Amino acid sequence: MKDNKFYVTTPIYYVNDKPHIGHAYTTILADVLARYHEAMGEEVFFLTGTDEHGQKVQQAAEAAGVDPQVHCDKMVIHFKKAWEKLNIKYDYFIRTTYDFHKEVVQKVLQELYDKGEIYAGEYGGYYCVGCERFYTTKELVDGKCPQHLVKPEFIKEKNYFFRMSKYQEWLINYIRENPDFIRPETRRNEVLGFLRNPLDDLCISRPKSRLAWGIELPFDKNYVTYVWFDALLNYITAVGYGRDDMKFNKWWPADYHLIGKDIVTTHCVYWPTMLKAIGLPLPKTIFAHGWWLVEETKMSKSLRNIVKPLDMADKYGVDALRYFLIREMVPGQDANFSESLFVTRYNSDLVNDLGNLVSRIFTLIEKNFESRVPSPAEMGKEEAKVRENGGQLPKLVYEKVEKLRLNEAIEIVLSYIRSINRYMEVRQPWHLVKEDISLAGTVLYVALEGLRISAVLLRPIMPEKMGRLLSAIPVSSDKREDAWGALLPGNALKKIEHLFPRVKLEVKKKKKEEEKMDAKYIDINDFKKIKLVTARIEEAEKVENANKLLKLIVSVGSEKRQIVAGIAEYYSPDELIGKTIILVSNLKPAKIRGIESQGMLLAASAGDKLTLLTTFEDIETGTPIS
Ligand code: MSP
Repeated sequence: MKDNKFYVTTPIYYVNDKPHIGHAYTTILADVLARYHEAMGEEVFFLTGTDEHGQKVQQAAEAAGVDPQVHCDKMVIHFKKAWEKLNIKYDYFIRTTYDFHKEVVQKVLQELYDKGEIYAGEYGGYYCVGCERFYTTKELVDGKCPQHLVKPEFIKEKNYFFRMSKYQEWLINYIRENPDFIRPETRRNEVLGFLRNPLDDLCISRPKSRLAWGIELPFDKNYVTYVWFDALLNYITAVGYGRDDMKFNKWWPADYHLIGKDIVTTHCVYWPTMLKAIGLPLPKTIFAHGWWLVEETKMSKSLRNIVKPLDMADKYGVDALRYFLIREMVPGQDANFSESLFVTRYNSDLVNDLGNLVSRIFTLIEKNFESRVPSPAEMGKEEAKVRENGGQLPKLVYEKVEKLRLNEAIEIVLSYIRSINRYMEVRQPWHLVKEDISLAGTVLYVALEGLRISAVLLRPIMPEKMGRLLSAIPVSSDKREDAWGALLPGNALKKIEHLFPRVKLEVKKKKKEEEKMDAKYIDINDFKKIKLVTARIEEAEKVENANKLLKLIVSVGSEKRQIVAGIAEYYSPDELIGKTIILVSNLKPAKIRGIESQGMLLAASAGDKLTLLTTFEDIETGTPIS
């Protein structure tokens, strides 16, 4: 049964960083959903906030040389400011360092401990600081954390455990019986796949000797709570759990937890089992979206490709950014962020389709109807089509919203807008005003009403611009705002400024993006510039005080060359003598540790493996490779 409330959450963001486009996306998505559900007549609670405990935050504070709480207080401002700027209308912003949150977390811990759901034990495992979690050897890829690609530390210590394993069968059944619990399908299958292996108990404590920044365990002062156990509980503490039953019962269970695909296990395995142990119902849907990529790669500080949402908003406007993010990502899949895509999408949808329609209609009414909404006379077939489609539009859009297919919801509205543009082309009201003013009035009424309904339906995505547009159009208060016919003829249409000025992609930027695209492929002539030849290793010795380097003397035909190569960890000097290798012979000589290297040898390497490239059969040294 559908109730009349809608509770949506975003992940709470770590305060060790400033918000980037990934954080902005989830938050905008939640905001858009909240606004749609409000428009559908539901009572909405939209929660976001910050995750402030744990090793990452402690380390960031240490690096900044400040107390963790001071660090959090400073960093949280970046999030609050960003959300304000992006027109995010959350109902509550939780911080896990708030007293009430800490108290309720301790209360939950104590209850679970008393019930025997938490016990003391010894634990050894691979701990990734980036993820703030232990990994099993199976989960590691080449011995590294699959998210951060670094080798986690092996840690052994006394800790407290939550009896997660005993809920494995129950969870599998729950996921099977509730197809909407984890979405999209790919993530649901991923979790079911994960649950095919035995589930361990969850280590929920950290010794203070290693990590002090956390919520103290109520039953052991020497430990703090594992940050995920603390963080996940925000979804219930924020709506009154343990403090305000009425409020809590009103909002819980959440309708949507929106998350990114990297935090599926914590949300779809840890969290439901925690709730089960506490004795609470599970959220209705956990929806995991994909990644925003930049040129097909994940954003990262080291690649310096992080897209800052506020830079985009400053440049193109908040609504344009919101529109792009929601239009361009198929929820559940990865999407590419590029400024040229952004500008193309902006110019085609917002400037050409929507913006043009607005200015055409407004200008014609201003010039020919003294800025009053014309009254419609009898409607023809063309008019009836626009009216019928406009009347059905809200239902179609809301159906898509319910399924979280917001990109499709937008497309439905935009194709309707395009159809109104075509209708204008067919009717040509700019000519009709001279020939048949009554028909011209009907056409403009119909087009304006279609535009108005479209604006109502796009307002959750572009609240500022569509709000401005709608406040210029007079409507009757007796009708639903999204119903055909709420438009009031005879009333004044206010003047509005240009909504979407056309933008040009900065040439420099465009060129850079093109260059990056070009960098994907090289021209045959580029390849020809590199001179590869065979060479034989005649002498090899270790470079003093550099445990990775070997100095080699190689023969290239009759010539001898000296090469410094970082292969000492893989080959001993002896085993190299006599081997035929591949040399880049026209590389500018370089000094490595003060020793001149006159070329570079080729090797295949991945992770901690490396193998030199040699020839299949014997061949003279100095033979060119083509
Ligand atoms: N603090 C935890 C969440 C605890 S919720 C109880 C956390 N924080 S985070 O700041 O690291 O990430 C928050 C969200 O941002 C995650 O959902 C993550 O998927 C999302 N994104 C981070 N980079 C992203 C992209 N490049 N694209 C889309 N979203 C990504 O995890």
